[in-house]
Amino acid sequence: MPKKVLLSGIQPSGKPHIGNYFGLMKRIVDYQDEYTSYFFIADYHALNSFRDKQTLKNNIIEIVIDYLAIGLNPEKSIIFKQSDVPEHTELAWIFETITTMPYLERAHAYKDAKAKGKEVNAGLFNYPMLMAADILLYDTNLVPTGRDQEQHVEIARDTALKFNNTFGETFSLPISKIAEIPVIPGTDGRKMSKSYNNTIPLFAPYEEIKKCVMSIITDSGEGIPKNVYAIHNLLRPASELLPIYESKAGKYKELKELLIEDLEKFIAPLREKRKEFEKDIPKALKILKEGGERAKKVASKKMDEVREKVGVKVY
Ligand code: ADP
Ligand code: TRP
Repeated sequence: MPKKVLLSGIQPSGKPHIGNYFGLMKRIVDYQDEYTSYFFIADYHALNSFRDKQTLKNNIIEIVIDYLAIGLNPEKSIIFKQSDVPEHTELAWIFETITTMPYLERAHAYKDAKAKGKEVNAGLFNYPMLMAADILLYDTNLVPTGRDQEQHVEIARDTALKFNNTFGETFSLPISKIAEIPVIPGTDGRKMSKSYNNTIPLFAPYEEIKKCVMSIITDSGEGIPKNVYAIHNLLRPASELLPIYESKAGKYKELKELLIEDLEKFIAPLREKRKEFEKDIPKALKILKEGGERAKKVASKKMDEVREKVGVKVY
């Protein structure tokens, strides 16, 4: 039986944190053996928010290095950049022609931006169409995501169905593979997120880990600081942690010190690996470029089929 296809995309939006790692990044690496895996950097999606070219360029390079450092392996996964495969934007256009405005108006990202009174550009409004194209070009079966992306995968599924019904069987129907872990809290107790400035960066040096952990809000009724515990639980099972937390109930400083040591043990090897990859940026870029060539072969074959199905292919 051929392996199922798994695809994941990530925006090059800055330093990853441990919420990103346990919620998404680790899972992508863990799945590489089991699936035919595509992993891409969603740089065209990122254009909706970036206006500074140097920051975007740096972020793209940094994120390739981040993923190589955590074990994404170019011999197992196809690692590429969205803009190297223009078929993504081409297919998005075709999807836009079969999708209605009221349907896209129901998308959370658009509704949230609108509710905040933001001016929504057409790129953000059409975001789900580009994401559908990202997914459907490779006959993806599974998309590992957090809950926040679930609706986008459903839109991709609806779009595949609509296209298949209109032009004939062309796309496989994807499903999302949601993280089993709960949302990880940040140092202020809200969801850990780059936009809240409450993160523990994945490759943080020791001093930074210390500073972040010491700043975690210890809001607890029962003597167990729940934010500290939730982060600690990523590194050790409850069976090990609960007795410790119970015996040290109320001793927040000691518990935080233990978390610092455990985080350091976990992060130090990743930091070292990252340093190695950072020394050879041309190698990382070569991996990205070659991945783009491999992805393009698959995407262009699919796109040829799509052009034929919709009627624009005359030779
Ligand atoms: P951020 O909120 O920091 O900008 P992203 O939206 O770029 O993070 O997240 C990329 C993916 O990382 C999400 O789809 C989700 O799967 C995962 N993720 C992000 N934050 C968390 C968190 N606090 N807990 C669990 N998973 C998370
Ligand atoms: N929208 C995703 C995010 O913001 C990134 C993304 C773009 C993606 N295209 C995708 C994720 C296709 C999975 C599959 O995190």
